[in-house]
Amino acid sequence: MNVKFYIKTVGCQMNVLDSELATADLLQNDCTPAETMDEADIILFNTCSVREHAEEKVYSALGRLRSWKAKHPQGVLGVMGCMAQKDGKLIFRRAPEVNLVLGPGRLNELSDAIARIAKSGTPELLLSSNRLHSGQTAAEVRASFHQYDRPRLLQARDSRYQAMVRIMFGCNKFCTYCIVPSVRGPEQSRPMKEIVQEVKSLVEQGCREVMLLGQTVNNWHVQDESGDYYMADLLERLNDINDLWRIRFVSSYPTGMTNRLLEAVRDLERVMPYLHVPAQHGANSVLKRMKRMYTVEEYRDLLDRIYAIIPGAAVTSDFIVGFCGETEEEYLKTVELVRYGQFKNSFIFKYSPRPGTKSAELYEDDVPEEEKKRRNNDLLAIQTEISQKLNNAFLNQTVSVLVEGPSLLTQKEQMRDAGVSPLPVVSNLETAIQMTGRTPCDRIVVFNGKPSLAGTIQQVQIKEIAPFTLAGELVR
Ligand code: SAH
Ligand code: SF4
Ligand code: F3S
Repeated sequence: MNVKFYIKTVGCQMNVLDSELATADLLQNDCTPAETMDEADIILFNTCSVREHAEEKVYSALGRLRSWKAKHPQGVLGVMGCMAQKDGKLIFRRAPEVNLVLGPGRLNELSDAIARIAKSGTPELLLSSNRLHSGQTAAEVRASFHQYDRPRLLQARDSRYQAMVRIMFGCNKFCTYCIVPSVRGPEQSRPMKEIVQEVKSLVEQGCREVMLLGQTVNNWHVQDESGDYYMADLLERLNDINDLWRIRFVSSYPTGMTNRLLEAVRDLERVMPYLHVPAQHGANSVLKRMKRMYTVEEYRDLLDRIYAIIPGAAVTSDFIVGFCGETEEEYLKTVELVRYGQFKNSFIFKYSPRPGTKSAELYEDDVPEEEKKRRNNDLLAIQTEISQKLNNAFLNQTVSVLVEGPSLLTQKEQMRDAGVSPLPVVSNLETAIQMTGRTPCDRIVVFNGKPSLAGTIQQVQIKEIAPFTLAGELVR
């Protein structure tokens, strides 16, 4: 029997990676991808709990699958990812069509669980321990969050040339607003040897750029008989891998950004001068309520060190507006930090109280939605202006671009014209179309070129500037 599956992914890069691993698992268990949900026998939602909005969207999407369930009575409708761990049994109540709830710490059991449901028809609930209320020891809780690593499969990846590699699981920071430590479990660094081996195997599959993932990625640390190893050591090891051209890592926590690490980013030619270091807020009073472990002065000092040590460094940040008790004055401190930071871009979020977090328990969500929206738009406009200004410096410059493939717009046009999936069509094309790629500092560049340039590094002279893209011409 040909079993078809469809995975819908929301949330951060951790989820994108987990969906890739789940896809690889299912492909190796004789399932094939479905083009649409309707024709799938297995539908999986890989979910995010970081803000309420993301969860509500999943619940309404699940509600719309009643007719699918009627057509596929034997089908598997699964919820995996962070909301699975957070809501658990509640999901069966709110969405009775669901017959699989699988937390991120149990992802290794996906295909077995699906096989059992297909046989017995009985719903399955597979979760890790509740980190805050299980009554278990720390070691027992940690053991319930399985480090899931499996062989990487080229067919499961969106890109041959780029891949994400998890180097750390979980988080121990417990910022007061954040659900991630509860749903992703205790912080655990993967052994150096495993990471190096995984990157080598990806490079053998043609991968040229890796993005190392962790919630506080710069604090990666392992200890074995031969000593202590830190992020700079890991980067040194990966920098030695032949045919790997670019290494990035996200997201960094502002403390633990040692000069040694910044110097490694500067000195290791394959490590790109791009750092995502979320500040979250610009007022010390709010950083304290958020339980971020640094002051604005320390964050500014970090920015100064980054720009002094790494030439051409691009820094990006996350900010939350409308956190509990945020006054106009405190908000303006964030504006000040955004102006000071000269970030390539910032991801700006309206505070969303998450049940089970400290801020939801301790503080009132007292900034009105309208005001959150205003601060969000205001900050975004300020950041956009800065992004545009920083991009202007690239006009007429020649940048080296790792070409990713046809730009999305071009892919869509190709699909519409040919009526087939975009990739095979594009790879047969000989004529120039709009291609896209990135600079070392992670700026998106579009230019006209042949699709066969994908996976190569090209020199492109920049001719036009927008806040979030550069457009240019190939330098012959
Ligand atoms: N580990 C990363 C962030 C992971 S969550 C770090 O510490 O930098 C991604 C982003 O979502 C956070 O940086 C934060 O800006 C935002 N976020 C997290 N919880 C939130 C909440 N309750 N409401 C609004 N935004 C939130
Ligand atoms: Fe959440 Fe803070 Fe951990 Fe980032 S560091 S995942 S914001 S608790
Ligand atoms: Fe990522 Fe959302 Fe989970 S941001 S770690 S998918 S809660």
